[in-house]
Amino acid sequence: MTKALRVAMVALLLLIGGVTLVAWLGLRSDRSEESVAPVIASDLQDRVARGRYLALAGNCRGCHTERGGADYAGGRVIATSFGEFRTPNLTPDAATGIGRWSENDFWRAMHEGKRPDGAPLYPAFPYTHYTKISRADVAALYAYLQSVPEVNKGNLAHSLQFPYDQRWLVVAWRALFFRPGAYQMVATQDERWNRGAYLVQGLGHCGACHDARNALGAIRGQADAAGGVIHNWYAPALNAAAEAGVAAWSEDQVIALLRTGLNEKAVTLGPMAEVVYNSLQHLRDEDLRAMAVYLRSLKAQVSPPPAAAPRQSAETRMVANARGARDYADHCAGCHGQQGQGRVPATRPLAANRDVTMTPAMNVIRIVLQGGYAPGTAGNPQPFGMPPFGGTLSDERIADLVSYIRSAWGNDAPAVAGHEVARQRGGVLW
Ligand code: HEC
Ligand code: HEC
Ligand code: HEC
Repeated sequence: MTKALRVAMVALLLLIGGVTLVAWLGLRSDRSEESVAPVIASDLQDRVARGRYLALAGNCRGCHTERGGADYAGGRVIATSFGEFRTPNLTPDAATGIGRWSENDFWRAMHEGKRPDGAPLYPAFPYTHYTKISRADVAALYAYLQSVPEVNKGNLAHSLQFPYDQRWLVVAWRALFFRPGAYQMVATQDERWNRGAYLVQGLGHCGACHDARNALGAIRGQADAAGGVIHNWYAPALNAAAEAGVAAWSEDQVIALLRTGLNEKAVTLGPMAEVVYNSLQHLRDEDLRAMAVYLRSLKAQVSPPPAAAPRQSAETRMVANARGARDYADHCAGCHGQQGQGRVPATRPLAANRDVTMTPAMNVIRIVLQGGYAPGTAGNPQPFGMPPFGGTLSDERIADLVSYIRSAWGNDAPAVAGHEVARQRGGVLW
């Protein structure tokens, strides 16, 4: 971001902030009507068990557990373009966790994105989606979290760039971009579709990664069929046929991808592999089927045309292509086939593979640089690995190689340049 732009943005934020601070002072004692509704009092044990399942569906542990740390004790770093968030402790420890929180406090956090003292929570916590979770499901989540082992571990401060480190500015953000909501049943669709939509839009918070965001990090919705960017990965649009749309897949193919991390056409890698590993593989058949029904119904949108490829003369192009083809034969064909046909079940084809041809090309570049694994799941316990090539091949050679696989065997996607490869080096190694 240029300095002028940042200054302009700060001024704008302060202005909006001033206005909404006034509004906030007026509204802070406001309690949503739903929050006083009685909780369905079923047996506590049942509720805890249900909450445990819902916590898996919402991937709470994934974000609220540090690598190697105790479950739900927080401390995981969530890197964003605004700086680094560190997730809080959700265990029932009274001093450092949420042991003192009432169920109503918890509901307000999940539904309204507010702390018990009324302070607004940053939307890096996807309450923008969790707001659609029902009161009964939030109660079950609360019962479950109050049952996990207490861990005494203080919350670490976020380290965010100015002005984003000013928590009160989130009030302005919320006034612009957030309304507490509830999942609205769509009467023209059946129960299964509605269950799928509820899971995808609410607990599953798929759009938190898969939907494009504006400059202030607010989700733009699915209208323009653009995906989101997370940790230098592109989370493709769930409603675009050339990206992650699944309208053309069978229900069983969608379920296989969500449950095992791959099917014969596609494989999940990077952040999506983690979602499958931590969350989706644990879901019940009927819930995965409901999600598949909903995902398949998303109206296919046409993706915006890709940005122009780097300008090169025909001759330069040919030389680069020959270099890419040579490296492909030397380093890749053994696993992916001379004609990019793959070796199912070990590897997917690279021919007619949208993960290869998608624009932006950041995922395919990243996979070649860093390698990776599909998640190890009950349905695919020993995934084959893709070795990293970032250490052996230069930026230019990887650019030529990726450009080659994007244009060989009937693939027809723009070439990538060496500087795009350089940009994908470093950053979080997923
Ligand atoms: C994408 C990462 C992510 C996921 C997934 C996530 N959280 Fe969080 N959560 C955060 C972050 C970051 C914060 C801190 C926000 C802040 O400081 O304003 C937070 C804050 C919270 C808080 C407020 C705690 C406090 O002390 O202020 C609660 C409660 C909470 N999350 C519950 C949940 C539950 C329940 C789930 C699963 C349904 C969940 N979270 C899933 C990232 C996540
Ligand atoms: C933490 C971010 C994140 C979340 C949350 C997330 N995804 Fe993804 N997803 C990604 C990324 C990044 C990719 C691209 C990499 C890949 O293909 O595995 C992806 C890929 C996909 C694909 C395309 C797979 C392919 O190769 O064709 C589908 C389908 C998908 N996600 C569905 C979902 C659904 C359904 C949810 C919610 C239950 C979800 N995702 C939640 C990040 C996320
Ligand atoms: C040792 C075997 C091996 C080698 C060598 C190898 N790969 Fe892979 N590759 C894999 C595996 C395994 C996967 C993940 C599972 C899958 O594709 O089904 C993968 C995945 C990929 C993907 C992602 C496919 C998708 O659908 O998301 C791309 C792109 C890719 N490899 C390109 C390459 C390129 C380019 C080279 C050469 C520089 C290469 N691979 C070398 C085994 C290999």
